[in-house]
Amino acid sequence: MKFLLLSLSLLTASSAVTQTPIYLDVNAPLEDRVEDALSRMTTKEKVALSHAQSKFSSAGCERLGIPELWMSDGPHGVRAEINWNDWGYSNWGSDSVTAFPALTALAATWNPEMAALYGKSVGEEARYREKDVLLGPGVNIYRTPMNGRNFEYMGEDPYLAGVMAVPYIQELQKNGVAACVKHFALNDQEQWRGAVNVNVSDRALYEIYLPAFKRAVQDGGAWSIMGAYNRIWNQHCCHNERLLDDILKGEWGFDGAVITDWGGCHDTREAALNGLDIEMGSFTNGLTSEADFGFNDYYLADPYYNLIEAGEVNDSIVNDKARRVLRLIFRTAMDQSKPFGNKCTPEHYAAAKQIGDESIVLLKNNGILPLAPGKRILVVGENATRRLTDGGGSSELKVKDYISPLQAITEAYGNVDYAMGYKSGRPMYGRADEIPQAVQDSLRAQAVAKAANADVVIFVGGLNKNSFQDCEATDRQSYNLPFGQDQLIEELLAVNPNMIIANISGNAYAMPWIDKVPAVLHSSYLGTMGGASMADVISGKVNPSGKLPYSIPVKLEDCGAHAFGEKSYPGYDAAPSAEERPGGDVYGNPVDPQQDYMEDILVGYRWHDTKKIPALFPFGYGMSYTTYDYGKGSIAENGSGWTVSVPVTNVGNVAGQEIVQLYVGDDKASVLRPVKELKGFEKIALAPGETKIVSFDITMDDLKFYDEASKSWVAEPGKFKAYVGASSTDIRSTLPFELKK
Ligand code: BGC
Repeated sequence: MKFLLLSLSLLTASSAVTQTPIYLDVNAPLEDRVEDALSRMTTKEKVALSHAQSKFSSAGCERLGIPELWMSDGPHGVRAEINWNDWGYSNWGSDSVTAFPALTALAATWNPEMAALYGKSVGEEARYREKDVLLGPGVNIYRTPMNGRNFEYMGEDPYLAGVMAVPYIQELQKNGVAACVKHFALNDQEQWRGAVNVNVSDRALYEIYLPAFKRAVQDGGAWSIMGAYNRIWNQHCCHNERLLDDILKGEWGFDGAVITDWGGCHDTREAALNGLDIEMGSFTNGLTSEADFGFNDYYLADPYYNLIEAGEVNDSIVNDKARRVLRLIFRTAMDQSKPFGNKCTPEHYAAAKQIGDESIVLLKNNGILPLAPGKRILVVGENATRRLTDGGGSSELKVKDYISPLQAITEAYGNVDYAMGYKSGRPMYGRADEIPQAVQDSLRAQAVAKAANADVVIFVGGLNKNSFQDCEATDRQSYNLPFGQDQLIEELLAVNPNMIIANISGNAYAMPWIDKVPAVLHSSYLGTMGGASMADVISGKVNPSGKLPYSIPVKLEDCGAHAFGEKSYPGYDAAPSAEERPGGDVYGNPVDPQQDYMEDILVGYRWHDTKKIPALFPFGYGMSYTTYDYGKGSIAENGSGWTVSVPVTNVGNVAGQEIVQLYVGDDKASVLRPVKELKGFEKIALAPGETKIVSFDITMDDLKFYDEASKSWVAEPGKFKAYVGASSTDIRSTLPFELKK
């Protein structure tokens, strides 16, 4: 930035004689500026744009006053400063931030206005921290509850994830901070993520796994995208010809930069030729402990330059990469009108609180909630006090403030006792089996003894951000709650059945005790203000209005991804002979891990519906403290499609927000189609007694499937149904209509 200001003032002083170069003229069209800058650069300077110069930055062009790009995780807040050349934290005193709710919570709000507020707020914090690229949002599809990283994504439905990603990206980028939508594509599990080759049909790719990315790029206008670690068509995603060149840059017309995931690049020639623009994080420690691997040794550094010099990379490719990086720099670091930003403001805390409030899902309530004051309350569970912004991998945040559930429940009710009940170990790397069984037994006994004397028990457990839980780089090892929580819940219920479960997790989990528990709240990681949101929902100050962005199957085998054995999840080793895979690679991993997405297009509720396997709690489900009455729905042709309308009335005593959902199903088709698919939703606020009419348009595109033979989207004439409902299974109006020939 200093270079830029210097050049500008020199230019102003001599403007009588020299004209401002176009690339420095903030009023000139972006493309002219980029072309002008490009025309002044040497090949070496262009190459320098395409790889890291530190763990989280890449070079600009110092000679021309073009600044560096600074990046940061993402996606729930701005990560603490990382050292120049290793993964350690820099321990600054000024990098603590607001932790916003996890993206899975944002999806549970089903409210694009919350996504806009989120993008605006996190963008202001990124700007204040002088970041040009925020590594998020994540829009990979929730395929299995075992994926350790689902909390960073927006659920199992591509339409919901896409619609929510757009305002996040648009508002974030208004701060001069680029979104980097990740992880493109099919990074739907953490196990073997660096190598697994995903075998997926083109139909599932286009209908399920790509649409949210497409929306993020085309409607959100994302300025950058992050390649995934895994492989597809046996080629790594970060330099995958079909994914990056044909689909992203070709079919979708993406004009931004493709950035690797950190360490996701594996080959110079592929990286040079197949659409990668910026290589980050290759090798582990860069110059410090691996002196053999400096930043110049990156695949897109000297080896790339040598390939160009050898005449093996066309100028057009070199220029295309540099042009995309320059565009990214001009849109962010070079943006003269970008705001200064701010962090940890009352507005940001209010935003985090409001998003959290709207995300909590009430799964069950026999009337115990909202909880009246005046009771002796016992809170049990480690998550009532544990700071859940620690751990989880790259999304870890250093928070300035963190309101825990115990703190907020105590403030709301006064008379609150606490028992930990179980212990999980250090954040991130702790393992439950490190904790001696005697310790777990005594924690459990202590909680059970206290429960016998309480009027009501609020259980705040769930998963946490340790490895093998909701954490990057590993998948979960069991669908059941960890750390002996099922046993603990059963023992607590035996002495005090008056229990509210208020678990925190970024994933579905088994609930073997569900029939015995009077009330269950499902909350994701809500960050700085999470405890306050939870306490307000428990007390009724906030009427819950979140709905599930993913199905909660009764058991793991009921989930489509798990219905076909290990071929489908987690995969298998395709190395040709036993000699080539004696126990896999040196770490015991498969040599050539492959995975077949055998449930194909039937992901999440599409599987439950079509195979008639009811979920314990279905996609789109969530209760309220009031009741919404759906009137008779209607459908009418509107010239270009159909309009569906339904009146919805709040017939209870408290104000609330209802999420009205539209699904469309094809009665008969030449290919297998899911019973129905989400095509619209609207969250409406209703005062007691109030009625609103909700309308949705159904377009021709909403009727189409991806036809592999013709490689195009096809709507087959015939009968369809529009379903209007309060969840994917709670359908209140079924409205037939016909697409005529
Ligand atoms: C993660 C990315 C993250 C990057 C930088 C990788 O391990 O997969 O999501 O943005 O690290 O921290």
